[in-house]
Amino acid sequence: MNKELGALFPEWMKGFYEDLVCFLPKRLNWYYTALETTGLRKLFTFAEELLLPGDLMHIVCRKYYIQQLVDEALREGIEQVVILGAGFDHLGAYTSGKGLPTFEIDTPSMALYKAQFLDKHGYMNDHLYCCSVNVNTTSIEEYLLNHPRFDTSNHTLIIAEGFFDYLNLEQTRKLLKQLSRLCPNHTLITTLFSLNELNFFHRLSFTSGVALVGEAIKLPLDRDGFIDLLSEYSYNEDRIISHQQMDAQYIQKTSIDLSVLKGFYIIQMSHLSPN
Ligand SMILES: C[S@@+](CC[C@H](N)C(=O)[O-])C[C@H]1O[C@@H](n2cnc3c(N)ncnc32)[C@H](O)[C@@H]1O
Repeated sequence: MNKELGALFPEWMKGFYEDLVCFLPKRLNWYYTALETTGLRKLFTFAEELLLPGDLMHIVCRKYYIQQLVDEALREGIEQVVILGAGFDHLGAYTSGKGLPTFEIDTPSMALYKAQFLDKHGYMNDHLYCCSVNVNTTSIEEYLLNHPRFDTSNHTLIIAEGFFDYLNLEQTRKLLKQLSRLCPNHTLITTLFSLNELNFFHRLSFTSGVALVGEAIKLPLDRDGFIDLLSEYSYNEDRIISHQQMDAQYIQKTSIDLSVLKGFYIIQMSHLSPN
């Protein structure tokens, strides 16, 4: 990783992703090995920036800012954590390592693969629960209510990084309703891709890239539409970090001449019980 960017991430976190890359099958980690060659690194960066400018930096910023927000939530006394669509994320290992009951939610195949990785590399602990739940077919509300370590009265942090995009509007509404009932007082940290801010070519590039890995972007909402939807379910805006802010606060402090993907936002909302 670039030294200036690398300096902004804790060693533990970088180690987690190094372990992850080694764990992935060869057909997936060849890219990482190729990036160690300067020429190939430049070529890949050029190609990615041509197809979808800002995609690379959006990942770096997403990891950086969400880590900051999670640390802040920990300082403010969050008591348990739910990570929707946890994927290969480090956050569950991080918060559970600090003693907080942490529930990583993902589809059965992904949850199993993740649990194998966590076990193999010593990230599993007594506070981390890898939950096999497809939120479209299983009620997350029922699942967590029946989980012996989930406490609905705990102040809960719900993280949905790169997640809501995979649900359509109806599925998103259903999930928000369940989360509202499950723990009335919680904080939500989510990402959003407001695709209307991309031009036709870059939008096509974005959606085809996702289709290439067999997935699809389903949530048809722009930034304002998404905020409006969340407010319908009693969420109040705490903070929105825009791609412009990420450019100004973070990227421009480095010598890296790349910007953050247009339309990318990190949003923190508080859910307050309507009563
Ligand atoms: C783009 S990845 C994000 C992973 C991780 N949060 C991150 O940002 O690095 C989206 C994740 O959501 C999971 N996911 C998608 N649809 C889901 C569903 N219906 N129920 C549970 N998990 C789902 C996928 O399996 C995948 O791990």
